[in-house]
Amino acid sequence: MSDLRTQLGEAVAAAFAAEGVDASLARVTPSDRPDLADFQSNGALAAAKALKANPRELAGKVAERLASDPRLASVDVAGPGFINLKLADAALAERATEVAGDADHAGAAVVEAPRKVVIDFAGPNVAKPMHVGHLRSSIIGESLKRLFRFRGDTVWGDAHFGDWGFQMGLLIVAVGDEGKAGAFLAEGDGPFPADSPVTLEDLERLYPQAAGQAKEDPAFRDRARKATAELQGGRPGYRALWQHFVAVSRTALEREFGALGVTFDLWNGESDADPVMAEMIAHLETSGLLVEDDGARVVHVARPGETRKKKLADGSVIEAPSPPPLLVISSEGSAMYGTTDLATILDRRKAIDPDLILYVVDERQAEHFEQVFRAAYLAGYATEGSLQHLGFGTMNGTDGKPFKTRAGGVLKLHDLITQATDKARERLREARLGDDLPEAEFEDIAHKVAIAALKFADLSNARTTSYVFDLDRFMSFEGKTGPYLLYQAVRIKSLLRKAGDQDLAPGAIVIGELAERDLALTLDAFSQAVTEAYDKRMPHLISEHAYRLAQSFSKFYAACPVLIAPDAAIKASRLALSKAALDQLEIALDLLGIATPERM
Ligand code: ARG
Repeated sequence: MSDLRTQLGEAVAAAFAAEGVDASLARVTPSDRPDLADFQSNGALAAAKALKANPRELAGKVAERLASDPRLASVDVAGPGFINLKLADAALAERATEVAGDADHAGAAVVEAPRKVVIDFAGPNVAKPMHVGHLRSSIIGESLKRLFRFRGDTVWGDAHFGDWGFQMGLLIVAVGDEGKAGAFLAEGDGPFPADSPVTLEDLERLYPQAAGQAKEDPAFRDRARKATAELQGGRPGYRALWQHFVAVSRTALEREFGALGVTFDLWNGESDADPVMAEMIAHLETSGLLVEDDGARVVHVARPGETRKKKLADGSVIEAPSPPPLLVISSEGSAMYGTTDLATILDRRKAIDPDLILYVVDERQAEHFEQVFRAAYLAGYATEGSLQHLGFGTMNGTDGKPFKTRAGGVLKLHDLITQATDKARERLREARLGDDLPEAEFEDIAHKVAIAALKFADLSNARTTSYVFDLDRFMSFEGKTGPYLLYQAVRIKSLLRKAGDQDLAPGAIVIGELAERDLALTLDAFSQAVTEAYDKRMPHLISEHAYRLAQSFSKFYAACPVLIAPDAAIKASRLALSKAALDQLEIALDLLGIATPERM
């Protein structure tokens, strides 16, 4: 059965149709005046306009048709023709019972036609510490992965590991120059040492050094280019060394992702697209898409007339194609970032044949994806609309610029988690939470609170907006925060434990009090929140629902005693409502990638 709002939408649509009015106008929304009604439909106004009829009269006729619906306690026409709908307590009770009985989905609807979906997120790179952009992508991507799976799609989360290209040549040369590459520099087929000659610290130190040197020293840059080309050409010693770089980085990254509660189904790298590269280039060539452009080879992706002003080196201004052509092979003969992304689309089609690929990547890469997607559509590697870039804003410091550490460097994910866990411990102690629990459990709680704070802070903002990093605020047990939601969930768990100790069990749900009505309405609203979050790829709609639910429960708990309710039937009903609220809250938090402790 669908949620009540959807059911009412259908009932109003049927009444519109019976009055000969366009049923698509029959939208039902939560009421602006919750004191008077639960839902409203404003459709009669637009419909009357189209029919040149009197809106109040039309609304009255629709209302009359709805009046006998047993799900409704009242139907009123207000103002110029709004239809106000108030649900019958019995209908709310029935729906709450249904939500309570739906252990897996807490009343949320699943998709009718499941799709195959690849979610390309996180995008960490070999040898480079992750920065806040990777953090946002990881948090949002993990949530979308869970949300799509929850709705019934088959989902592959892919880390799209940055393990290819010029950075790798830089590292090979830098490691060699430090005298660490030893046997790997030999020509020939090996065998090569099975142990890595470098640690993660080496890589993280050498990479920025090498990148800096390449900017100043053309000879160094040329050696790195040559090494890149030889690596990509398959030189065995370079491949073996590179595999160590990849493995060392990946082990460290997996540990960090593990701490963040982020997992991938695929750890494919940019390099995994390499085997289809030659075939792709040949295909682009024979189909006439790959054209010469000033020594490089590009695919034109702008449609006729799509231009923007571009200033040339001599100061003159021309109308240049917009988006600019996709650079496939540089004038030096190397494949580029866009080339790898295009080849990866082809590779994914061969391996998975997805209906949809979502790219959770910083908004600043929007043009890159526009170029790649258009090229993929032109080449026939994906169907129009099946590739979507889900950009996001930046996490800023209080200075309004992308967040940096106090020392001005990039914030390492590992350090961020440590910092957040320290703060969580402090807050828990201040609030005297968990202080009587065993040390290991307290540590687990502190970690969960820390991750909840970071993730909820991120996911309570619309994906596309930027926000300010403020650990103190994120970590508060009051307000719209992760710790507040965990605390509410734990409170319900404790209530249910006490009930169990007293041999009280949940029973049939009856709705009487206002706070019970509100809780039942909130439980009903989850399905719409999930559907909307899924359709818009906007996890913050789940965050909003979780917060609303926690608040609704809090009001219910204050107004409606559970364990000391006057009679057994009411106790059992309120316990069932509490249990339903907890289940739904935990599912909502899980969709955000947040785990709940048992107690605190
Ligand atoms: N590794 C890239 C970076 O650090 C992000 C990769 C995003 N995904 C993609 N398919 N291009 O910026």
